[in-house]
Amino acid sequence: MAPRSPDSQPVQLVFDFDSTVVAVEGLDELARIALADDPDRERTVEAIEAITRDGMSGAIGIDESLRRRLAMLTITRRHVDAVVRLLRRRLSPSFRRHVAAVRRNADRIHVVSSGFREYLEPVCRDLGIPPERVHCNEFRWKGGKVAGFDAASPLARPGGKARLVKSLKLPGRVVAVGDGITDAEIRDAGAAHEFVAYCENVEREAVVARADRVARSVDEVLWLYRLPGSPSFPKSRMAALLCENIHPEAAQALRDEGYRVEALSDALGEEELARAIKGVSILGIRSKTRLTARVLQEADRLLAVGCFCIGTDQVDLPASAARGVAVFNAPYSNTRSVVELAVGEIVMLMRRVPDSSRLLHDGGWRKSAAGCTEVRGKVLGIVGYGHIGSQLSILAEAMGMQVVYHDLEERLALGNARKCRSLTELLGRSDAVSLHVDGRASNRGLIGERELRKMRPGAVLLNLSRGHVVDLDALASSIRAGHVGGAAIDVFPEEPLSNRDPFDCPLRGLPNVILSPHVGGSTAEAQQAIGEFVAARLVDFVNTGGTSGSVNLPQISAPPVPRSHRFLHLHRNQPGVLAAVNAVFARRKINILGQALRTDDSTGYLVTDVDRRYAADVVDELKAVPGTVRLRVLY
Ligand SMILES: NC(=O)c1ccc[n+]([C@@H]2O[C@H](COP(=O)([O-])OP(=O)(O)OC[C@H]3O[C@@H](n4cnc5c(N)ncnc54)[C@H](O)[C@@H]3O)[C@@H](O)[C@H]2O)c1
Repeated sequence: MAPRSPDSQPVQLVFDFDSTVVAVEGLDELARIALADDPDRERTVEAIEAITRDGMSGAIGIDESLRRRLAMLTITRRHVDAVVRLLRRRLSPSFRRHVAAVRRNADRIHVVSSGFREYLEPVCRDLGIPPERVHCNEFRWKGGKVAGFDAASPLARPGGKARLVKSLKLPGRVVAVGDGITDAEIRDAGAAHEFVAYCENVEREAVVARADRVARSVDEVLWLYRLPGSPSFPKSRMAALLCENIHPEAAQALRDEGYRVEALSDALGEEELARAIKGVSILGIRSKTRLTARVLQEADRLLAVGCFCIGTDQVDLPASAARGVAVFNAPYSNTRSVVELAVGEIVMLMRRVPDSSRLLHDGGWRKSAAGCTEVRGKVLGIVGYGHIGSQLSILAEAMGMQVVYHDLEERLALGNARKCRSLTELLGRSDAVSLHVDGRASNRGLIGERELRKMRPGAVLLNLSRGHVVDLDALASSIRAGHVGGAAIDVFPEEPLSNRDPFDCPLRGLPNVILSPHVGGSTAEAQQAIGEFVAARLVDFVNTGGTSGSVNLPQISAPPVPRSHRFLHLHRNQPGVLAAVNAVFARRKINILGQALRTDDSTGYLVTDVDRRYAADVVDELKAVPGTVRLRVLY
């Protein structure tokens, strides 16, 4: 539960500007712009930043800090306009995300800064904070240039912020919010009741040590005082733990959303994870971290798990669902990588490159066109026309191949591809056969001795799908007999568990055979795509409750509905839950704007949007509906 203002008086927030409302120091940025053409620019900027730091830490007074910095600069109106444009772009991320909530509270917000009105006022106006609530210094202009500042202003003197806030005689509970010592001094001088150290952009130990509270986003500040528009729980208090060297893109995407992210390079063992998972809302893992029922027992805040890989065997999916934890993966983010390898291998096999490469490595030389063909005009037979098969179809056609395909499902032909009525027809027509079927049990041994015999003499076979799909002994015999003309195999019925383990298979040493260690999808781009895809699913689930792509909860895509409250009700799939939930809304005369329900064998997921007004005890009543697993309220 969010803390209430202790004496429930109306709260007045006194915000600092630099490194708080905006992510940078306004005057430093202005200096950078004004010095753009100065050959000594870097040195002067460094000197100015050092003075800013001395001012922030209290080593020198604000008057001296301002005087010394301005003396080093020639500032014109053009420079000021440029810094306003820059500051608008560099608004602190949480202010950008919560403009509406800040505007809603603008009548209780003052901005007090030793920066200058010329650039503060336009940025504050964007946030709905009018000029009379912006208290700051002003430049003195002469001949179109800044000639100094109003040295008589209290904000240009030591202790000025505290004196100014006192002079405002604000009613109610006054809270100073900022990242510097001068903001803490407002409270110390008795001008504010409390000081919140604002650490979204800068965290100064000495400042945090003097704070009554710490906040890392503006929504967290609003939440601390239960102000209108504040979230039910701010993201800056939500922890995301990423294990196993997940692509940095994912950590960045979560940080951009405001989460506190810890990224580890290794997997955690069960006990380590059981300890680390306490307080974590989002967990990211790859294939080595096992998320067991035992670990889940310790997961007191866990909302969602991202498997930044294809498989999800490492997660106890039913136990996760039973606790209302959504699990996501990235089944299709490496499609393109597999397709590219297949394309390359078709060309290599049709030119018999594996043989000539081996010969040259062994110190031989044989220049010959025998058995080598172009791929142009040849027939490629694709078995399994899903994500990978259909994309391969497009690339192969672009190289001038004629594509035929076979799929158990009705799949639309892309480009000039032709559907085959049966696998037998496909095998009889193709110069290259590429397998892209899924891992269902019935696909075990899909290509055995009988099927290989039906292939055209000299045709080549590719398997980048699942190891058990091809009978490798039969394939080896066919190649030895000179029927199948070559093969590229990336997946095997038994694969070594680690890079230290040995590898064996019947195809070793055979002519025109490419063997690769299950790397069809292993590229830098695929890793990045996986990072982006899974992070986006996690963010969507936390922000909107959307479960599309979840592997353990019923899938609902739920774009936010403006001016509504959203209830996410996860329950056991049993009769009467929907009626009981809606009876709560009906009793309370709460208007339902939209509702979606999906169920699977064990779980039901109900997303309900209602108009804004509801009493807090509705939440308790919904939680008490029999069968409820988890209730979450958004916005
Ligand atoms: N080598 C690698 O590193 C790597 C990387 C990614 C995916 N894969 C594997 O590639 C395969 C294809 O992946 P995808 O993303 O295209 O899957 P997908 O589910 O999109 O497509 C599979 C298609 O195969 C069809 N199919 C299944 N059995 C069939 C059969 N007996 N005959 C004809 N059609 C059949 C399905 O109807 C479906 O259209 C999967 O087995 C996947 O595990 C391998």
